[in-house]
Amino acid sequence: MKHWRIDEVAWDRFDPSKVDPALIPLVKAAAMVERNGTDYAIYLNRVFADDLDFRQAADHWAEEEVQHGDALGKWATLADPSWDYHAAFARYKAGYHLPLDAEASIRGSRTGELIARCMVETGTSSYYTALGEAAQEPVLKQICRNIAADEFRHFKLFYDHMRRYLARENIGLLRRLRIAASRITESEDDELAFAWHCGNAPEGQAYEHASCTAAYMAGATAFYRFRHVERGMGMIFKAVGLPPRGRLSDLSAKVAWRLLQWRRQRLTQRLAA
Ligand SMILES: [Fe+2]
Ligand SMILES: [Fe+2]
Repeated sequence: MKHWRIDEVAWDRFDPSKVDPALIPLVKAAAMVERNGTDYAIYLNRVFADDLDFRQAADHWAEEEVQHGDALGKWATLADPSWDYHAAFARYKAGYHLPLDAEASIRGSRTGELIARCMVETGTSSYYTALGEAAQEPVLKQICRNIAADEFRHFKLFYDHMRRYLARENIGLLRRLRIAASRITESEDDELAFAWHCGNAPEGQAYEHASCTAAYMAGATAFYRFRHVERGMGMIFKAVGLPPRGRLSDLSAKVAWRLLQWRRQRLTQRLAA
């Protein structure tokens, strides 16, 4: 059972006068990545081939992710009626491929795969919380709230399964930290940058990774506040097995906040150049 359905969103409350134009390209890009959840479920079904419980949970998870894409896509179409969600997603699907033929996790273990999933859900839950708080347009606010709540539940889902595998696979803290860190740095890989391109570049324009990453990251990080980073850091700590609240987590959140602002400044300069 999904926790909400697209037709329960109060679409009739859409108010074009309250749309922040800076949010539209971010919503378009996010719709691409979310809609692609079914592909990730195919990969997870292969990696966890003999774990029926988890495979069922992964299929259900993917349905929710696809709904995130469809809700964001529908909102972006209201905000920009000239935008074609399905055509944009078709471009994304044709150009971005997950390793669907994998026999084992690209993270080296099932625990590692689930830690990486926890990092993604940490990122999405804080992102949609930040977007939802920044949005003035009531429908987008509602969608982002619904999605953020799903993403927090997804974190818990992957975390619980991760704990089960950790007891079996016994991956050390350093390796868990390395997996978490490498998944976080992948946020500047093609998955998001290409989604930005497909969601926003005119048809026929060539994909340029650096400028798309800069546009996406500079746009997205503008809406973060310290509290989002602080909460996200607690989730990262929890996922790798460190105390989510305490001096180390506080300090890491402060460092991450500084890094985020520094990175944003660099990317904004790169865009201006
Ligand atoms: Fe999602
Ligand atoms: Fe999610």
